[in-house]
Amino acid sequence: MQLGLIKALYTDQLTKVYNYGEAENLFYITLQWLEKKSKTAVILGQDTLLVDTYQLVLEELLLGKPIQYLTHEAPFYGLSLYVDERVLIPRPETEQLVHWIIHDNPEFNGSVMDIGTGSGCIPVALAKHWPEAILSGCDISADALVVAEKNANDQEVDVTFIQKDILSQELDDYDIIISNPPYIGKSEMHDMHQNVLNNEPHLALFVSDSDPLIFYKRILQLAKQQKTTCYFETSELYRDELDLWLDTENLDYIWQLDFQKKNRMLKVRF
Ligand SMILES: C[S@@+](CC[C@H](N)C(=O)[O-])C[C@H]1O[C@@H](n2cnc3c(N)ncnc32)[C@H](O)[C@@H]1O
Repeated sequence: MQLGLIKALYTDQLTKVYNYGEAENLFYITLQWLEKKSKTAVILGQDTLLVDTYQLVLEELLLGKPIQYLTHEAPFYGLSLYVDERVLIPRPETEQLVHWIIHDNPEFNGSVMDIGTGSGCIPVALAKHWPEAILSGCDISADALVVAEKNANDQEVDVTFIQKDILSQELDDYDIIISNPPYIGKSEMHDMHQNVLNNEPHLALFVSDSDPLIFYKRILQLAKQQKTTCYFETSELYRDELDLWLDTENLDYIWQLDFQKKNRMLKVRF
């Protein structure tokens, strides 16, 4: 069967769940994954022998499964990282956080802890840019740490990963702390895309509505003892609440806009 017909099938079916651009993109990612071919193969009218495989992938996508959990690949800051259901799929906003940190600290050679490291995307990407730095990541999830270790090995970088519940355990001394912690209130669940809700780990996403800032407060309490600079990713929804709390604590902080012009990145200095 011609690849053009498979593409038509994908866009026809997937536009029930996604917009046309996303549906088309999902087809091209599948094409690249299954056959290592690009758009040109469709333009040239090439055939495929993998019709049944395309159909199976389409069925998973229609159920809302993120394509990254099928291909086990997620692009992150110029790297291709391994992902599966044990970790959150790294987001473009987090790449921006990494970009800001590197821009802020060129040629850094101190120690860094990434709290809630998930796939390890942040310290692994930083290790590629800061070969002299001492990089660590921690997570409450032992499963996530297996994926993080795999990414560090695959990318041939040296990152130490430890299992830690940051809400109840102490932290050693670091020069920089980074965190993209869970920050979505449980009450926001109903506004979320089903493919995120049904597939990505809830431990990575949600915090209790009663104290959505719990991770920021706890991490800053730990950082204050050592006067460690912190970089966070957060939700714009909590900007005012965070500002109020940071002002009450008399902390020195600065916000950074993401590519959607939202205040999603925060630096706190002591
Ligand atoms: C939003 S995800 C971020 C993952 C990754 N850093 C990224 O940016 O893609 C939050 C991570 O925090 C971890 N986490 C949740 N509760 C935690 C806790 N109490 N202590 C440490 N890590 C925790 C989750 O397992 C998850 O991997």
